[in-house]
Amino acid sequence: MALTIGVPRETLAGEKRVATVPEVVEKLIKLGFSVAVESGAGDAANCSDDTYRAAGAQVIEGAAGLFAASDIVFKVGVPTPEDVGHLREGGTLIGFIWPAQNPELMQQLAAKKATVLAIDSLPRTLSRAQKMDALTSQAGVAGYRAVIEAANAFGRFFNGQITAAGKVPPAKVFIAGAGVAGLAAIGTAASLGAIVRANDTRAEVADQVVSLGGEFVKVDYEEEGSGGGGYAKVMSEGFQQAQREMYAKQAREVDIIITTALIPGKPAPRLITAEMVQSMKPGSVIVDMAAERGGNCELTEAGKTVVKHGVTIVGYTDLASRLAKQSSTLYATNLFRLTEELCKTQKVKGDGTIDVNMDDEAIRGLTVIKEGSITWPPPPPKPSAAPAAAKPATAAAPAAKKGGHGHGAASEPMAAGKLAMMFGIAAVLFWFVGANAPQAFLAHFTVFVLACFVGYMVVWNVTPALHTPLMSVTNAISSIICIGALVQIAPPLAGGLPPDPWIRWLAVGGIALTAVNMFGGFAVTQRMLDMFRK
Ligand code: NAI
Repeated sequence: MALTIGVPRETLAGEKRVATVPEVVEKLIKLGFSVAVESGAGDAANCSDDTYRAAGAQVIEGAAGLFAASDIVFKVGVPTPEDVGHLREGGTLIGFIWPAQNPELMQQLAAKKATVLAIDSLPRTLSRAQKMDALTSQAGVAGYRAVIEAANAFGRFFNGQITAAGKVPPAKVFIAGAGVAGLAAIGTAASLGAIVRANDTRAEVADQVVSLGGEFVKVDYEEEGSGGGGYAKVMSEGFQQAQREMYAKQAREVDIIITTALIPGKPAPRLITAEMVQSMKPGSVIVDMAAERGGNCELTEAGKTVVKHGVTIVGYTDLASRLAKQSSTLYATNLFRLTEELCKTQKVKGDGTIDVNMDDEAIRGLTVIKEGSITWPPPPPKPSAAPAAAKPATAAAPAAKKGGHGHGAASEPMAAGKLAMMFGIAAVLFWFVGANAPQAFLAHFTVFVLACFVGYMVVWNVTPALHTPLMSVTNAISSIICIGALVQIAPPLAGGLPPDPWIRWLAVGGIALTAVNMFGGFAVTQRMLDMFRK
């Protein structure tokens, strides 16, 4: 029987988001589910009860009724004890849980025999998981909103203007930390016309900063800042000293500072000292996105806007919620994509049931409680074929590379034996072909074998994340195949022999197959370009 997905009203103070929006309700229903929404759940995100009803959802009065009707509950905020009390015995809950910070909540949910998928525990390095990555979607919205808050508190234009009344210089914005939120802030501030500078301990983000219209400001100290998995590490004292000097210089020069620096599991790094705030021009603004984790600025007060030394310091911890319609829509889409994944292994498609498949790496990572037993933390992720060049040459790097090809350390001797056997068989085959085949065939065959080898090495050594652009490159190769096949089909030149019919038909087959690749390649390229178009 089709399951019911329930969306309660968020009860945490100031939370305006809702876990699904009417546009996504329609898609969930198409997947085969029934959807129930608590009355008033979407009010703060501009989604009225009527719009949910029009999309096909049932609107239920009160949390108790909603939870009772729901097999699967979608939530945004961390569940409260009341939410856990209302949750059905053996029910499924999907939302932000933060299991490391909330051990008590985990126990309560386990006692309810619940299955809990914590969207914050998604393995973010899996490229397949990006569509479900709510941390990214919410941080992007928050980065945008941080710039809007800064613009609101700042008494001038962001862009430079020359008017009859005089010349207005552009605002200078400095962004500390160019992760998801930082990059969104860089793009937004640059599009408003400000001069944007940014710094991050991970040097690899410099290109992304520039591509969004910012300038990357380097710390005058050589040290690799990447701690793996796209996150930073705690830097040496020498680096921190050099960084403080650079930040002090920026503080004197810029009008707005937006700080987003974060190292997972660590308190926020202190980057902006009280003296730096004091050195800023009066009327300047700091938006400290790390306020909840102690703040990147010494004078930040979490959840508040304060004015210190003439500088407005914004420490809001609910920036994504302050753009509730946008953040809710993106969050709802993340949960919809996750639901699709949960339906993937179902035998009957569209029957409105889910399967929490623990063999799937993404779902395994997300699932923190399965039918009452705590499954968090997940086993360490399998090393992926991430670009080894981006990482320092550590002992782990060769292992990671091997993992990407599907060989574990234990299978090494077996793989070597297998390889030797395959080489032996191939050598015998080549000898047989060489001894018996005609001369003309041999030349073509050699080129063919070499092409297969080069093609294999090229494709298998490309990071999976780059397979999509690789599709576009294969278009060029397909064109060569197509030309070769057309030459075979073409009528013979004067005096030449007509090709055998079977060669012609082989060429026709070749053209058909390569056409699929070419048009597919164009379609993929088009989709990629559309992602960058406004
Ligand atoms: P992220 O992990 O993608 O980015 C953090 C960046 O900071 C990384 O690029 C890292 O290399 C850099 N970093 C770390 N230490 C640094 C240092 N000492 N100096 C310079 N850069 C350093 O994280 P994301 O998703 O962009 O979030 C950024 C911050 O915003 C987090 O603290 C997060 O909790 C917060 N946040 C706040 C919200 C709010 O409403 N205030 C909403 C969403 C996120």
